[in-house]
Amino acid sequence: MTSRLQCMDCTTTYPIDTVTYTCAACGGLLDVQHDLDAAKKTVSRALFDDRLGSLSAPYNSGVWRYKELVHPTVPDEQVVSKPEGNTNLYHVPELARWSGVDTLYLKHEGENPTGSFKDRGMTGGVTHARLLGMTRVACASTGNTSASLAAYATQAGLQGIIFFENKNIALGKLSQAIAYGATCVQINADFDRNLALVREVAEETGIYVLNSVNPFRLEGQKTIMFETIQQLRWQVPDWIVVPGGNLGNSSAFGKGLNEFYQLGLIDKMPRIAIIQAAGANPLYQSFQRDFDDLQPIKAQTIASAIKIGNPVNYKKAVRTLRWTNGVVAEVTDQQIMDAKAQIDGRGIGCEPASACSLAGVKKLVAEGVIGRGDSVVGVLTGHLLKDPDATISYHTDSLNNIRAQYPNRLHQAEGDAAQIIDILNRARSAEYAD
Ligand code: F0G
Repeated sequence: MTSRLQCMDCTTTYPIDTVTYTCAACGGLLDVQHDLDAAKKTVSRALFDDRLGSLSAPYNSGVWRYKELVHPTVPDEQVVSKPEGNTNLYHVPELARWSGVDTLYLKHEGENPTGSFKDRGMTGGVTHARLLGMTRVACASTGNTSASLAAYATQAGLQGIIFFENKNIALGKLSQAIAYGATCVQINADFDRNLALVREVAEETGIYVLNSVNPFRLEGQKTIMFETIQQLRWQVPDWIVVPGGNLGNSSAFGKGLNEFYQLGLIDKMPRIAIIQAAGANPLYQSFQRDFDDLQPIKAQTIASAIKIGNPVNYKKAVRTLRWTNGVVAEVTDQQIMDAKAQIDGRGIGCEPASACSLAGVKKLVAEGVIGRGDSVVGVLTGHLLKDPDATISYHTDSLNNIRAQYPNRLHQAEGDAAQIIDILNRARSAEYAD
């Protein structure tokens, strides 16, 4: 079973061990194209169900459970895995009610080893880097990719290199990258410029780029869809709702769903809704113009993970939207933080960017795009602890231009039992008053 790299535009193919991220002929984005006719003979719902709960590497991973569709030829012992995936799919009736649908699930990718969905991509990318004989791997990052790259690189014995913006990086993420031992460079440039810089530096120095322009990253990330559908006992929801930044996830989801469909593992495609922050919405703007082109913008949002104005995977995301009859919506920072407070308040929790999913569901229901009776899966992309500043600033109502709708006030007391009891009594009556 051979896999090849294939240009999504001009269909030129390259051997899988070619070190490249874009097509040499036309500059288009590359896909890892598997031999689906061969896969048809080996993969089945039963095969993937049999591997559930496996204790053996690499099949104990929620990525490598689908190895035939991720990286079929890599020897099992060469896989760099923590293992990742196997994340919870929460059924949340209260949040369904809040957003206006009957059935809502949240797929929590913040439950991965380093706290974000990036681990699913990184296990694919770092495994492939090692097969290629690379010694140094690098990325530009708004934070989560860096944490993941740093952890997987050190596990694989590779040097990790991170290009950060010198502001707006959530502390949880920065601390992870430093702690895992990557070479971290804070640069006076935003994510979009840093991505251009990392590609330029990598070209000159032979470092391997592990941003989502690397198609092996997306092979790992598409398993979010595989696992979700398997967890739903192979039932396809009406909608998948996902935040969009550099658009790697949405690109990967379309590819994975298309493969499952071609293999007969599902009998319909869900519709995908990509949700962007209003201050970082180039895909949304392009959607409004029937995808005539991408006009890069200078991005600004409290959801720092998706503060991206020139998404590298734009064309693949548009392909996903066409394959799935998808839509794009934008939500304000206020809507993001209120949705986050709702998710957090159910004991689930996520970082700001992830809350775009729930905020997006609410908005699309209000607009009549998502029907009340539709079944919806929202993807939560990162863990609550990634960005504690945002959470605390919300609950203390100290964010610029955002008024917390669901604050959980922090009480202050002297070391005095009577005063504390008074606070508790008042808190209880406030709760009953709601
Ligand atoms: N949610 C979180 C928590 C993220 O960290 C990211 C991207 C996204 C959503 C957007 O996903 O790029 O696939 O559309 N974070 C990258 C990083 C850019 O560097 O960690 P996308």
